[in-house]
Amino acid sequence: MALRLAVVGDIHGHFGSADVRHLDGAGYDLVLFVGDLGGYSFRSCLEVAERISTLQTRALLINHDGVTAGQLLAEVASADSVAARLGRRMSQRVAKLQRVLGGCELAGYSRHEVARGGIDATLIAGRPHSLGGERIGFVNYLRRGFGVSDVNSSVAKLAALSEAAESERLVFFGHNGPTGLGDDRESIWGCDFRKEGGDFGDADLRTAVDRAKESRRVPLVIAGHMHRRTRMRTRRTQRVVRDGTLYINVAETPRVRRVGLRFLHHHVRVTLTSVGIDVEDVWLDRESGAQEPSPV
Ligand SMILES: [Fe+2]
Repeated sequence: MALRLAVVGDIHGHFGSADVRHLDGAGYDLVLFVGDLGGYSFRSCLEVAERISTLQTRALLINHDGVTAGQLLAEVASADSVAARLGRRMSQRVAKLQRVLGGCELAGYSRHEVARGGIDATLIAGRPHSLGGERIGFVNYLRRGFGVSDVNSSVAKLAALSEAAESERLVFFGHNGPTGLGDDRESIWGCDFRKEGGDFGDADLRTAVDRAKESRRVPLVIAGHMHRRTRMRTRRTQRVVRDGTLYINVAETPRVRRVGLRFLHHHVRVTLTSVGIDVEDVWLDRESGAQEPSPV
């Protein structure tokens, strides 16, 4: 008996009807999206959300995408007053995104129980709209929606979710991964856009995972954001095992690759059994849906 999840990394516009057909056809119990649906416009994000809404399989999307390009730029530049002004209608945008997503649930500071035939896990969704690094982005939105304004209040929120989990087995997922796994440009969540590198993980997620492990098992942490193909065109570390937890960066970008005349589409298959968790990168031929060797 096994419980099977499909994880789709940063999409950036690459998600179509073939993905829906293959994911639904594979009989997954859940499809998990880690965010970055579109390009830089909210409209492009809604276009992908519309395609996601046609999935028949239960689906979760980390809440990362209800923002505009201007807002994102202001956040990245730490221009607080501009970010606050451009973020005034963020709640409406997130609500619209949820409407377009249909049955795919927006996740963030949320807990999701999954079970099949005696195999179970609690999925804990991390902080919504993480940008990586030390800044807690979109703080006005987080304050209004979740009462979170800094790392400590974020950790408290995540700790409460862990304590309420129905399963002894927790899987954390977020847009961006936790700190503490390396500070090289090619580390799993290392900063590749600064010459000196640096740890670009989320400190709140780190603390929340460590705290949860005091009373539960946390065999797996899933996130994207820091693309597997770095700015130097090298490949970053994609998996790290630390203290009994497997951390996987799923941001295979672009997630659709051309091989000759064919197109291969990427996702990560997570299989949970009574004895453990297996994680596999999967590339499917767009037309046939057949699994193919990795093109990367
Ligand atoms: Fe991305």
